Amino acid sequence: TVQDGVRVFTLDMQEGETDLGQGGLAPTLGVNGSFLGPTLRATRGEQVRIDVTNSMSETSTLHWHGMKLPAVMDGGPHQQVEPGRTWSPTWTVAQPAATLWYHPHLHGRTADHVYRGLAGLFVLDEPAGSPEAAVQDALPHEYGVDDVPLVVQDKKFHADGRLDDADPFLSSTGVRGSVVLVNGTADPYLDVTTERVRLRVLNGSNARIYSFGFDDGRDFQVVGSDGGLLEAPVTTDRLRLTPGDRAEVVVEVEPGERTVLRSFPQELGVNPFTARFSGGDDTLDVLELRAAPTLEPSAPVPTTLAGIPSADEGAATTTRRFELSGTSINGQDMDLRRIDEVVDAGATEVWEVTSLDDSPHNFHVHDAQFQVLDVAGEPPPLDLRGWQDTVYVRPGKVTRLLVTFGTTPDAEHPYMFHCHLLRHEDQGMMGQFVVV
Ligand code: C2O
Ligand code: CU
Repeated sequence: TVQDGVRVFTLDMQEGETDLGQGGLAPTLGVNGSFLGPTLRATRGEQVRIDVTNSMSETSTLHWHGMKLPAVMDGGPHQQVEPGRTWSPTWTVAQPAATLWYHPHLHGRTADHVYRGLAGLFVLDEPAGSPEAAVQDALPHEYGVDDVPLVVQDKKFHADGRLDDADPFLSSTGVRGSVVLVNGTADPYLDVTTERVRLRVLNGSNARIYSFGFDDGRDFQVVGSDGGLLEAPVTTDRLRLTPGDRAEVVVEVEPGERTVLRSFPQELGVNPFTARFSGGDDTLDVLELRAAPTLEPSAPVPTTLAGIPSADEGAATTTRRFELSGTSINGQDMDLRRIDEVVDAGATEVWEVTSLDDSPHNFHVHDAQFQVLDVAGEPPPLDLRGWQDTVYVRPGKVTRLLVTFGTTPDAEHPYMFHCHLLRHEDQGMMGQFVVV
């Protein structure tokens, strides 16, 4: 609802039980229900307020992943919502249309809270009548019809249908499962009624890295990354999303056909043994697309999508280095009382991220959408040339990011940067920065 020009959302974190299709009820968490939460939708320029109530028996938080906003509204580990309390962050949406998401961020408990079902999408739109909105409208954009959110989460279950969060064999990345739920549904399919369908895919998994493609090898077009549309569509048959990443893809179907969105074996840049025990060899079915016998026509995907400035390293005033190893960054485990980095409001910086161990990691920065300058000195793949807030970190290779920080100074309230494999984050692979 809109009250006095402010778009107000009401979110209630709840405990419950959900039949996840695995032989019985699973104790779960959710928002306004018992598993996952509603898709929030707001427009660039709009002021939003979110009334977050915690009806659960334990403290949690809700973090607006990918959002540019004042640190005190961020929903990180410091903005705790105790049972029975309501927290009401408010901010003005000041970034391009994108598929963002929200999830808990209580330090040490994030993996558990997300795994049990606390997560939802936060879709941003462009103001009606703007040239950016015209591009959005040229893409499939009818929510739930040809513009479909996919919250992809792999789970493991006990025989009685309860979620199993046990660690996988010989791996430190945290829980992975062989059942892929899409929007909380096992064995999901989508009835497609249009020639083209836009899928807004969130990797909402704790640890699993997906390499998406189709069983019949068809190409699809990647049109958006974490922070919004790409400059131009990228045609490919594979797309990697690491935990926390999103992408928008457009798939074309023929009348009556079926095709399965899958995750395929992939090269993670770790040694083959580690790769195997990190899920790198796995094949998982994600979603079956079932095309209707006759399809509504869809417009072709525009050849130009968004204006993305070329990443100008010359604009950077500082270079910072981050070395990921074990459960720490630059040799230190997360400490809620320690500020690791102090950044000038509005500054552009180069952040160089390297992993020193033979494990998959990724890197996420709050309050920012960054550009990937290069990976091991090479330009990033085409699907990583738009705005990102989370990026895969290959062991032993330097991943360089160009980050422009927010303009709201606040020396008291930090933002986080961390590995988004939730087990690693909980164990301490996270640090804090303030913008001053
Ligand atoms: Cu999606 Cu700091 O998190
Ligand atoms: Cu990690």
